[in-house]
Formats: sequence, structure tokens, C-alpha cells
Amino acid sequence: MQDLLKFITCGSVDDGKSTLIGHMLYDSKLIFSDQEESLKLESQVGSNDGNLDYSLLLDGLMAEREQGITIDVAYRYFTTNNRSFIVADTPGHEEYTRNMAVGASFADLAVILVDSSKGILTQTKRHTRICALMGIKHVVYAVNKIDIVDYSHSTYDQICLDIQKICLEYNFKSVFTIPVSATIGDNLTTKSTKTPWYEGPTLLEYLENIDVNTADKDSGSILPIQRVCRPNREFRGFQGEIILGSFKKGDEITVLPSEEKAHIKAVYNLDKETDEASKGQAVTVSLDKEIDVSRGSVILKDTDLYKGKLFRAKILWMDDKKLVAGKNYSIKLSTAESLATVMNIKHKIDVNEGSKVYTDKVYKNEIAVIDLACKDVMIYNKFKNVKEMGSFILIDNVTHQTAACGVIEHNLRRDENIIYQKMDITRDLRSAQKNQKPKTIWFTGLSGSGKSTLANALEKRLFADGKHTMSLDGDNIRLGLNKNLGFKEQDRIENIRRIAEVAKLLNDAGVIAITSFISPFLSDRENAKSIIGRENFIEIYVSTPLEECEKRDVKGLYKKARAGEIPNFSGISSPYEPPKEPDLTIDTSKVSLEDAVELIYKKISDSI
Ligand code: ADX
Repeated sequence: MQDLLKFITCGSVDDGKSTLIGHMLYDSKLIFSDQEESLKLESQVGSNDGNLDYSLLLDGLMAEREQGITIDVAYRYFTTNNRSFIVADTPGHEEYTRNMAVGASFADLAVILVDSSKGILTQTKRHTRICALMGIKHVVYAVNKIDIVDYSHSTYDQICLDIQKICLEYNFKSVFTIPVSATIGDNLTTKSTKTPWYEGPTLLEYLENIDVNTADKDSGSILPIQRVCRPNREFRGFQGEIILGSFKKGDEITVLPSEEKAHIKAVYNLDKETDEASKGQAVTVSLDKEIDVSRGSVILKDTDLYKGKLFRAKILWMDDKKLVAGKNYSIKLSTAESLATVMNIKHKIDVNEGSKVYTDKVYKNEIAVIDLACKDVMIYNKFKNVKEMGSFILIDNVTHQTAACGVIEHNLRRDENIIYQKMDITRDLRSAQKNQKPKTIWFTGLSGSGKSTLANALEKRLFADGKHTMSLDGDNIRLGLNKNLGFKEQDRIENIRRIAEVAKLLNDAGVIAITSFISPFLSDRENAKSIIGRENFIEIYVSTPLEECEKRDVKGLYKKARAGEIPNFSGISSPYEPPKEPDLTIDTSKVSLEDAVELIYKKISDSI
């Protein structure tokens, strides 16, 4: 059986994960001799009293060796006579849950270490839960340090019972336990004489023989499209990796989201035409007729997938900043990318106990169930059906960091029941009637910086030009549409989201929208940009310094804020994040009102 097993190792700090893999490689002579020499040398200074320190074999990162902990996912590749392996050695301590989730998302099996002298720890439960969340179906518990408990059969049995209890909650296809000693080598590659009561295979035998390819229950074939290639006028090929089933010449296929049908004209593997290609192969296919296929489309045969914008998902939150409902992220799902808004947080899941915790905030390393609304139609499946079509990542639009990984639980029924209604009178017609190009002119800056004054003067100027305008102003909108919102982060997110939606409606009506809101957070303004459309969004940063705004203190609010009477006051007790690349910056302490309006007018007059 010369196939490939992808597995991860997880355990708490000091459980001996790296030692376990290192020792297994050493015993099965899977290291080169020069590596062995250096290992001996290094062990002199290693942490193991001059004995071989097998964890050094997994060289990992320098930091790990210096600190004695694993801090990133280290992938190893090794082969025995029976099988090839890729192992992701993932960190043990809570802070690095993110790396573990990344490791788990690629693996078929997890080796979870348990320290027999300590038994099941909350970490063990946490690791098991994350493995289950990331879709791992096969779990082996290596009950390590069995030498330290004098090879006690009863200790081992008790741990096995505890493991069974933990796993009851999950849907693993196989759960196995093996008593081992990573340092001494018991039951790693050779059977230990010290555990006569254990009759099962060694860890390596187990890994060599376990069948993780328990035939996919799902029939049918799926090819998500990564790239459309057009080397010349005649040829149009669609490239991607087959994630289910197989494709051959003549097959009738359907493309989503367009739902058009065609037949496969040819299948190419690399640049050679092939009779048939199957799961795991990267292919190019050509079709017998021109249909709508682009990156993110999916080619299907004898199966179906969901198509929609709204779904419920379980996520592992990995960002340092907490998750708050209403925020917009980029989503990557299979080969498709879009924007997704977290509509609401249903609940968190206690990582250790599995219970639901009702909350509106989710912090780093927590698991939560949320509803997502995507901007574009996504093609997906429930995670438990087809892993590749049911998992996604969310990316922060400002930092470009992965903020979460998640799996889709189900679609939201209202998605099917709300259908966009096309109207005959379009934005273009309405704009043409008004003889203008509708844009949103978005002022951002501290309270008292001069946003409303500038907006007012600009609107008068545009009005005089015969333009159709509408001004949306912070305090005014907060007296009406947004009177139910305060100044906490979540309320500000919702404030800006609603303003952006209203500005978009105004633009749809052919009207030029002028908005003046502090809008202190970069991510909210990014969100507004994506709602309104980048091409319609003109951002003006009113950069008047805090000292000047505070000196003006037109409404007396700074005084109150300094006295601690107004919480979360922008610039004082709540941050203001300036735009990185505004279309225009105006400091009203340096430029007169007339000059400022002139500058803005010059900037926008060609585009409205
Ligand atoms: S935003 O942050 O959500 O964009 P917005 O522009 O709507 O704020 O409202 C800001 C106005 O509300 C300020 O000009 C000020 O008059 C008033 N205000 C009351 N409390 C606060 C606060 N905590 N922070 C900022 N502005 C406040």
C-alpha cells in the first residue's frame, strides 16, 4: 500500500510530540547518517542528559529549540516500505491554536498525545474538538510516558475510558489508543516487552495500515475552477484540481453558478490529453460549447451543490482583535473569493466542555457559530458532505491577516426566499435624467474637525451648479434612523453600515451623497467602500489635529469626555484610525473654508 497518509500530531507542551516523531524516524532508519552524527553532538547540549534528544531531529524553528516549545507548523515528509507520510507537527499551547487548526485542515488523521502521568487535560479535549471541527475523521491517542507510570495497565485503561467519553460527542470514523514512550521507544516501531497487556499494533504499524480512504459516500464529480486558460483563439481550457470523482471525454457536465450544461471535449493532465482524470489530479478540461465559466465556477457531474449567499458556519476565530457582528471580511471558499458580512453571532462553543455560550463577542482561539452573508453567489456544500466545498477562511480587509477558518453547517432558508428584483428604471437612467454621475463623498475625521461645515459648504456649491445632492450628517442621522445606536464598537459598525447602505440607495437614485461621520475605524470605511462600490467612493480625510478640535470644542463634548462623563469618545477614549490613502486630506486649522471647498470641488468635479 504505497499511498500517502497526511497526519498531524497534537499535544500539550512537554507531552513529547517532537520526540515521538523524531524517535519513530530514527528507529525506522529514516534519517541520514550525517543527521545522526549531528544529533549525537547536539544532544550533548540538549535537554536529555547526554542521551539522544529525538526532538532535535524535528529541527523546526530555532525559537522552538531555544524555548523548548513548538511555535509554528512544521511539515515533515518520510517514507517507509509500506507508506509515505506527511506530518504536521503543531504547537501545544493555547496561544498557537491557529497553527494547529491550519495543520488539522490538511490532515486525514491526528495523533493526539496524552501524558499518562497527567491523564486527560483540558488541552486534550481542546485538541480533540479542533480536530473534529477541521474535519479529521481518524484519531489515535498516543498515551505517552507509559514508562513513567511503570507501565501500569490500570492507568492506561482509565485513560482509554476517559478518551471514549470525550469521543462520544464526535463523529470520528476511528478512534484508537496505544501506550507508548517517546523517549524510550516503547510501541513506536517495535512492540514493547514491558506492556504485555497491550496486544495491538505499534504506532508506526498503525499509521502504515490505517485506511483513511473509506470510500467517499458522495457519488458524483466536482472540479472547482482555479483558472481559465486561453493560449490562443481556438482553445479555452478550465483548470483546477478534481476534488471528487472523475471526468472523461464525453461526460455531460453542469457549471455552477450559471447552471449551463455542456459535454467535455477533452481532459488534459499537465499538457497531455488523457482518457480520464480523477480526484486529486490537477487538470485542464475543454468543453464542446462556449458557456459562462470563470475562476470560482464549479464543474459538476452527477451531483449538486448549494448556490447562495447566506449560510450558517462554525468558525475558529484566530484574530487578535475580537469578532463583532456587522463586520465585513474577504472570504475564500474553494477557488472563489468574495466579501462576507458577519450578520450575527449565534453562540460560542466552550472548547473544553462543548456547551453553548450566548454572547455577542468572540475572542481569539474561540469557536463560534455565526451567520454569514456573502456579496456574491457562492457555490458550496455542508462541510460534512464535501470537505473542500464546505470550508473557508475569512481575511481581515485592513491587515490582510487570516482572521478565521470555518466550516459551513447549512444554508439559510431565507436565502432561497429573497430574490433580487430587477427594475426597469435603472441607476443609469435615473442619473442620466439628472445629468450627473452619482458618487458618495465621504468625510471622515474627529468630532469638531470641520466635517459638517465642509459638507454644508460643498453641498451649497454643488447645488448652485444644479447638482442633485443629499447630505447625511452624524448627529442628524443619530436623531432619526440610527437613534437606537450608541458609540460602542458594535454600534459604530452598524451606524456606518446603515449610512453606507443609504448612501448607496441615494446613488442608485442618481443623487450625489455627502456623508459626514467620524467613521473612526478603517475596517468600517472599507466596509462602506465595498457596499457603495470603490469606484463611487471619494474619501476626504479632515485631518484637523485633536488639540485644535479640542480647543474649538463647539459642543462642549471634549470637556465632558476629559472629565470622564462620555465613554468611548473618539480621539480621547476610543481610537481614530486615519485613512491610509484618502482621495484628499484637509486640515481645517490650516486651510480656509473657501479654499478647502475649492480643493474638494476641483478634486470631484470631473467625476460627478
Ligand atoms: S461614528 O463614530 O459612529 O461615525 P458619528 O459621526 O455618527 O460617529 O457621530 C458623532 C457625533 O456624535 C459627534 O460629533 C458628537 O457630536 C456625538 N457624540 C456623542 N458621543 C460621542 C462619542 N462617544 N464619540 C464620538 N462622538 C460622540
